Amino acid sequence: MQALLNTAIQAARRAGDSSMRYIKRLDELDVRSKSRNEFVTQVDLAAEQIIIESVHERYPDHGILGEETGRQGGDEVIWIIDPLDGTTNYIHGFPVFAVSIGIQVKGRMEVGVVYDPNRQELFTAIRGVGAQLEGRRIRVDVNRVLEGSLIGTGFPYRENDRWMEQYLNQFRAVMHVAGDVRRPGSAALDLCYLASGRMDGFWEFGLQIWDIAAGSLILCEAGGMISSMTDDGDYLETGNIIAGAPKVHAELEKLLKPFLGPTMADAANE
Ligand code: IPD
Ligand code: CA
Ligand code: CA
Repeated sequence: MQALLNTAIQAARRAGDSSMRYIKRLDELDVRSKSRNEFVTQVDLAAEQIIIESVHERYPDHGILGEETGRQGGDEVIWIIDPLDGTTNYIHGFPVFAVSIGIQVKGRMEVGVVYDPNRQELFTAIRGVGAQLEGRRIRVDVNRVLEGSLIGTGFPYRENDRWMEQYLNQFRAVMHVAGDVRRPGSAALDLCYLASGRMDGFWEFGLQIWDIAAGSLILCEAGGMISSMTDDGDYLETGNIIAGAPKVHAELEKLLKPFLGPTMADAANE
């Protein structure tokens, strides 16, 4: 797994450096809309190409699931790639975005890399070996509770806005108990911030597998928990997630799930 991790790190750094080169020329960006509030630029596409080339240089037979180019190649080892997580931030020059690469072997997440090129911070994990930030072991705080904690979230601002009412009720409930709430805008980094204790809990609807593949492994290897908010599958499939340090995760599950109601169950099954 170490060899896979090394290639993933190199690919993530190359892609992140590429995005940082373009950010000085934001006014020249060609921004296209994939759907409501969902944008892609030539920066996303270039970064994904760089990652795929880096993988194929060493592992020509490995499969790829990239946000921008979709599925290709073998299915024993699959590289799950979000070349630029936080594109809305990126196109505004808001410096919170990351490269996310998760590697699944025979259907199980084994390696995760999230690279923040603004802070030049590298989060990594190998299943069973632990999670690291810049080579130093990271762990969640097992004693942390919801009261007074810092909770992260993502808004239902795209096609998932049909969940807005339930979400706003959940938001109010969290605000009553937690210390404060943040919406940084990169789900991959959000999970790494949980893993490193910079936030204590997190919830969001409608994420995609490439948003959370790497970050969820990093979080779990740091002792954190992640689960699906809805009952229609595993969290990687539903993308409706509750995550956090163990006690905070348990409290969030108890607090947030009752707001789902029958409407949410229907929405999840659509
Ligand atoms: C988005 C970010 C954001 C989350 C969105 C994701 P993208 O990824 O992770 O934090 O709220 O749901 O789609 O589109 O910038 O790669
Ligand atoms: Ca993403
Ligand atoms: Ca993306």
